[in-house]
Amino acid sequence: MTPVTEVASDLGASWPNAESSGSCFPKYKAPPNRAFADFWARLGVSFVRLYATAFRERWPLHLLWPAPRLFGFRLLVRYDHVIEALTRADVFKVPFGEEMARLNDGAAPGHGTPFLLGIDDPLEHDKRARCLMARLGLDDIAAVEEMAFQAAKSRLLLQAAKSFEAINGLVTAVPIDLCNRYFGLSITDGEARSFADASIELSGHLFGAPPKSKDDPLKGIGPSKDGQENEAGDYVRCFVNRAIKAAKAQPPLAAGQAPETLATKLRGLSDKEARAILMGMIVGFVPTNTLAGGYMLEVLLSKPDAMKAAVEAAQAGDDDRLCACLFEALRLRPINLGPFRICKGGYQLDGSFIRHGERVWVMTGSAMWDSRKVLKASHFDPLRPASSYLHFGFGMHWCIGAMLARAQLTQTFKALLLHGAPKPVSRLGYRGTFPAYLKIAIKR
Ligand code: HEM
Repeated sequence: MTPVTEVASDLGASWPNAESSGSCFPKYKAPPNRAFADFWARLGVSFVRLYATAFRERWPLHLLWPAPRLFGFRLLVRYDHVIEALTRADVFKVPFGEEMARLNDGAAPGHGTPFLLGIDDPLEHDKRARCLMARLGLDDIAAVEEMAFQAAKSRLLLQAAKSFEAINGLVTAVPIDLCNRYFGLSITDGEARSFADASIELSGHLFGAPPKSKDDPLKGIGPSKDGQENEAGDYVRCFVNRAIKAAKAQPPLAAGQAPETLATKLRGLSDKEARAILMGMIVGFVPTNTLAGGYMLEVLLSKPDAMKAAVEAAQAGDDDRLCACLFEALRLRPINLGPFRICKGGYQLDGSFIRHGERVWVMTGSAMWDSRKVLKASHFDPLRPASSYLHFGFGMHWCIGAMLARAQLTQTFKALLLHGAPKPVSRLGYRGTFPAYLKIAIKR
């Protein structure tokens, strides 16, 4: 493994015309929408949600099958079980570590530079987490808030009509603006759609359900048959390589010239290490905040009490209250049902034995509705204690971008809700399970 302090240059042009044209060309082209397959995928998710609810809440199901099976997975549906699994990284291993490393470098299977979320060894994880945390200064958050608010305001100004498509026009656009301004990338407006599609492809590929392997029960996600993730990885890597190259060529900034971009803060690292961090942060940011922002907006539009509370908080300038409203709305419709793990060595969990090699679905989305822990879970109540929320996971892999995510989403919604409550003009449209289209109208 490359030591995190090694400085070496290995930036190749990973995308055909990256060097010659100064841009990443040709653009990544997402496969055509498969409306039928996507519909079935979402129906499947709704079924799993109902199944998890039954085994979490209904007597005698929750006594007889505390960790029920479904489609070859063990489902952890209760709050306490989810916490236990997420704190035992030594037993419940992440299934996407190798694949993430491969895509960070565009390398062959079994090679590549790992990133935090894919590392289970606590010492190695801790070393890399400290390396990144030292660069993600807490002081940056205030600057990110300002950047996000200004970016959202300009995106709203760009919409000439009263009604506009809010997912591409705002929810995904602001994280992409921050990839430029805070991470140090240079994505033009003309490239934004392809960049978002490519990062969403990577996220869907890495964090989806791991297939079962007969040869190696601990094998996680691997290359897909159509190789779509390779194209997506090459495209995102092209922007990342350019940012690292530009950052390393830049003279040191004078003191007080904050905030530096993340790419400039990573200048002391090897290209591979800097790239793994930027790739990981991008895949954690653009797709996840698109999911979160899209679902938050959908919940607010469908729940007048939630919308009223959020608009009041925005107009009172109370960011903490607005943030609480948004993440409570997201609890009602979480970004997903939870992360996947593979059990290493076997584990006795409450009354159930989880075998070596069993694939486990750690359902944070179900845990946030567990009546043992969360009272009146179906009610919108932004005053719940912090322990009611597992949006950002738990334990060693707790989301390192949580502060950034909160800042970006709160400021984006603040800019939107200062216009009053938007009205839905269309229903939420999807690409897979990702929000892709939602037309709304605002007062000008
Ligand atoms: C609302 C938005 C977000 C949500 C709901 C979210 C959720 C999560 C969750 C559930 C995990 C743990 C995954 C697991 O245990 O398998 C995680 C980890 C992570 N997230 Fe986020 N995330 C969000 C935004 C972000 C942003 C904005 C970034 C970066 C800019 C980011 C970067 C990361 C990273 C690097 C990790 C791995 C941390 C580690 O392993 O130490 N996330 N996130």
